[in-house]
Amino acid sequence: MSGYNQQVARNTESGNRDIIRMFDRISPVYDRMNRLMSLGMDRRWRRKAVAAIDIPNGAKVLDLACGTGDMGLEALSQVQNLQIVGVDPSPAMLAIARNRLMTWNTALSMAWGEQLPFRDSIFDRAMIAFGIRSFPNRLTALKELRRVVMPGGKLAILEMTSRKPATLESLFGWYFRHLVPAVGTLMSRHRHAYHYLPASVDAFPEPRDFAGEMVVAGWNTVSWIPMAGGVVTLFVAENQ
Ligand SMILES: C[S@@+](CC[C@H](N)C(=O)[O-])C[C@H]1O[C@@H](n2cnc3c(N)ncnc32)[C@H](O)[C@@H]1O
Repeated sequence: MSGYNQQVARNTESGNRDIIRMFDRISPVYDRMNRLMSLGMDRRWRRKAVAAIDIPNGAKVLDLACGTGDMGLEALSQVQNLQIVGVDPSPAMLAIARNRLMTWNTALSMAWGEQLPFRDSIFDRAMIAFGIRSFPNRLTALKELRRVVMPGGKLAILEMTSRKPATLESLFGWYFRHLVPAVGTLMSRHRHAYHYLPASVDAFPEPRDFAGEMVVAGWNTVSWIPMAGGVVTLFVAENQ
């Protein structure tokens, strides 16, 4: 491993160990909390994200920060004969993904997005849903994604974003900052996890700035679509 890669590994592991422990602990309630927090809308967001990257039949698709496997399942429901490769550093999240995806042509790997254990240009498509805001080295992960996606391939990133119209901000802001942490704490019995959520969304850049990071990482034709009034943004890019 080169000196630079060793440094990335050290930064990633030290910055992320607590976050991964947190995802391990909330994994049993994660899917239920997702449906509740998004008022059931996350399924529609995932559907749109998968549709946005025109996955061809038989494609090999990377689902980075795959968690419990929802994006892979959505892709499998839209396109035939896919091979889904899910990557996540949380063993507990991966264990749930394994159960949910085992009847399909899938592979799961425990790894960081900043150091993908794959050769160059082996994926037709890649996607990340609600994961990249937790990465300590976003730009490194975006470059890694570009390295493993073949020329002409596409990337979809779904993420929670914090700039919203005023009325939605006040309503959703109260729901998100007060109700979600309270219910999340009760359901997961983990006080920090659902307080971390609004804080991590606030720390994530505005869509225009994140799209700029994607361009810096080498992605082309980057576009973004606000959903649910800007609470969530879908970013789409090509590797030209
Ligand atoms: C909010 S969950 C999203 C899971 C899934 N993509 C979904 O849509 O439900 C975030 C996931 O990101 C993973 N994660 C956090 N830091 C990561 C990193 N540096 N590299 C890869 N995955 C990471 C966590 O383990 C967790 O499973």
